[in-house]
Amino acid sequence: MRLYHEEYDIEANIMDPQIWKDPYPLYQKMREAPGLIKADQRFAGQIWVATRYDDVETIMKDTQRFKNDPANATGATNYFDRLFVPKVVKAFARSMVFVDGLDHKRLRGLTAKAFTPARVNELDQRIVDVTRGLLQAASQQGTFDLMAAFALPLPLQIISDMLGVNEKERRSFHKMVNLVFNVPTGWGFVRRLPTFYGLYRFFKKLLNRKRKEPGDDLTTDLIRAEEDGDRLTPEELMGTVFLLLFAGHETTVNLIGNGTLALLENPEQMDRLRAEPDLVPAAVEEMLRYYSPAHFTQIRHVAEPATFGETTLEVGSKIMPMVGAANRDANAFDHADQFDVGRKPNKHIGFGAGVHFCLGAHLSRVEGRIAFQAMLEEFPHLELAVEPSELVWRGAAGGLRGLESLPVRVVS
Ligand code: HEM
Repeated sequence: MRLYHEEYDIEANIMDPQIWKDPYPLYQKMREAPGLIKADQRFAGQIWVATRYDDVETIMKDTQRFKNDPANATGATNYFDRLFVPKVVKAFARSMVFVDGLDHKRLRGLTAKAFTPARVNELDQRIVDVTRGLLQAASQQGTFDLMAAFALPLPLQIISDMLGVNEKERRSFHKMVNLVFNVPTGWGFVRRLPTFYGLYRFFKKLLNRKRKEPGDDLTTDLIRAEEDGDRLTPEELMGTVFLLLFAGHETTVNLIGNGTLALLENPEQMDRLRAEPDLVPAAVEEMLRYYSPAHFTQIRHVAEPATFGETTLEVGSKIMPMVGAANRDANAFDHADQFDVGRKPNKHIGFGAGVHFCLGAHLSRVEGRIAFQAMLEEFPHLELAVEPSELVWRGAAGGLRGLESLPVRVVS
């Protein structure tokens, strides 16, 4: 995605690995520019980008002026309905994050009860057990990749349990998602088409298996809602399971990976957390702000004219709220570029805002709290096993910012 602001001398490609490695200086320039930033996006064409905290919050909360489905803004067809778009992407685009109003309420309502704090708290012991098992296995290796050994398997295991996805399916899904979201260019997208078809077949198979072998899981509940008739279409069913499986691990992986990196880069904050473990929940909030796991969110479509500084958006314009940039806005946070595990208040917008506020926020917070409490206990001293400059970030497609690998060493 190429970002530019002619008068303010901004021209950058956020997909460039060198920029994605540290996008924060660019974000600062973007926040300082008058009005909004223009961008060219692969699917949506020309869009606007909002980076200031207040603008991002307004866009996410004002569902009257900003719609997630273009059809509700102008009556235009959704760009996901184009012929060349793979079926699995079309289904994904029918999930709750891409729709508005009553459709959104219906789709979110069908899954929301599995994510209430009370239901998530029932998973507490399971999360503790998985965490301990993974950390003990990892620490025996001395030096290991924290992403592969811990940050990835923990959330993937928990969301897979919730959805009744078995181990073989889990690994195959992760491999394919990794391939489709690590796509740097338009041609890369074309090359990945077979993987999109693979994902489609994956969901078909999973849903068929669950129809034959129903379980006490969310996928079975959703299949029943589809079989009930008009509550869920087959496409919405596939889209919802895809969204939950994807959102359920790709994001929390980055919370654990990025959060660990923030602690390693700020040893005095790590020491403070060891001395005051009650601060772990606050530290998790700070990780969500400082190194946000998700930087961009779903594009919004302008239904009524809207003005942001010097930019007036016409009906039909597209705008992307960048939560990763808003979370470093000095007008919203004191010493915004400092990582402070005791930060209070912390009104970060890492989980979004308004009706589309992250459904899995409580689950991620619980996983994050348990993961960091256990890591601090299991590893009395943890250090990076490579030079910081050698760390590789995964591609920016999808807007998620996380490490490819995080080699660490446990020192006793
Ligand atoms: C640290 C972890 C996570 C972060 C940073 C995160 C971030 C976000 C953000 C920013 C949004 C708003 C998107 C928008 O408005 O365009 C969102 C929505 C959503 N998230 Fe998460 N998420 C995380 C974990 C999870 C988990 C564990 C799940 C559950 C499986 C989940 C499920 C969802 C769903 C279903 C939505 C759409 C809600 C709606 O449209 O009503 N997320 N998330």
